[in-house]
Amino acid sequence: MKGGRLILGIESSCDETSAAVLRDGRQILGHVILSQDVHRIWGGVVPELAARAHLTVIDEVVDAALDEAELELEDVDAIGVTTGPGLIGALLVGVSWAKATAFALDRPLVGVHHMEGHLFAPSLEDPAAEPPFIALLVSGGHTLLLHVPEWGRYRLLGQTRDDAAGEAFDKVAKLLGLDYPGGPEIERLARSGDPARHRFPRPMLRGNQTPGDPDYWDVSFSGLKTAVSIRVAEVEEAGRLDEERPHLAAGFQAAVVDTLVSKTLRATEALGVPRVLLGGGVSANGPLRQEMRARLGPDGKVFHATPRLSLDNGAMIARAAHFHLDAGRIAPPELTANAALPFPGLTDARSE
Ligand code: KG4
Ligand code: ZN
Repeated sequence: MKGGRLILGIESSCDETSAAVLRDGRQILGHVILSQDVHRIWGGVVPELAARAHLTVIDEVVDAALDEAELELEDVDAIGVTTGPGLIGALLVGVSWAKATAFALDRPLVGVHHMEGHLFAPSLEDPAAEPPFIALLVSGGHTLLLHVPEWGRYRLLGQTRDDAAGEAFDKVAKLLGLDYPGGPEIERLARSGDPARHRFPRPMLRGNQTPGDPDYWDVSFSGLKTAVSIRVAEVEEAGRLDEERPHLAAGFQAAVVDTLVSKTLRATEALGVPRVLLGGGVSANGPLRQEMRARLGPDGKVFHATPRLSLDNGAMIARAAHFHLDAGRIAPPELTANAALPFPGLTDARSE
């Protein structure tokens, strides 16, 4: 089906190869997400294997998305691609493919920051998911608390001092002997656990903090992971790991959720913006969504994508590319991947 502006979005920053065709920034015509199961064997993403797997499947993934949209590559008006942050070898596969294709077809190319893509994901399904809002971006590599007055303006309120929220889920899952990725495994196991049985610390969360304190907004998860690992060792020593596993998962998840929700609500209150957008893989977590909604109250609004669009995907990249294309931000021919790409439009609210 032709008509409207068609953007092909490509995502290959970690272990999902994904392509989507988006019409006019809203309508997903075709979307394929291929997860690389090979990393399960190793209990985490192996960068070299990720890059090779992207290279093997990227043509097929794009073809499948175009087939679903009943379009040819030539019908596409522009290409958006994740240029970072992420694994450099993995990113380079998508960026090289997109550059070569945009050049061959003579179409504009737009580079997209992966985390900005996550910010746009909820708006693909809910037209109300527009700024102003407080964004909590929680993925395997990042944990960011942002004030977003408008698209393209991102005020950093807080971030993690060490591990990202998703990384904490993955590491604790490993301690508990669960598969990678750990987040969904912990969520599943925690359903049959009692979160009060093992009470873990809420890092950087104390009632006497004030907004001027450096740790008022930031989070830290490495101490929590250590606390869980000590408890796991004790329980294992007592030969009770099997029966305690669901309770340990529930206690850990409750600590992460409480910390993330409390920090986010500090922001909604301080800025008078009772609108929260959850993005990134960890935003697929049911208890996080429920607790955010419950504690924000009936006058607030919580936006998040469905789980499929919360995880890494090409549609959110196409959506962000649509925004940048409207602003005329077309990538130069020398565009390249950057494993540590700075977030475009990000300013540090704490030094304003
Ligand atoms: O955004 P994402 O798909 O990839 C990155 O950009 O990193 O996030 C992946 C992270 C992993 O750490 C994974 O364990 C976590 O998101 N995750 C979850 C859930 N689903 C995925 N964490 C908690 N609960 C979930 N249901
Ligand atoms: Zn991601």
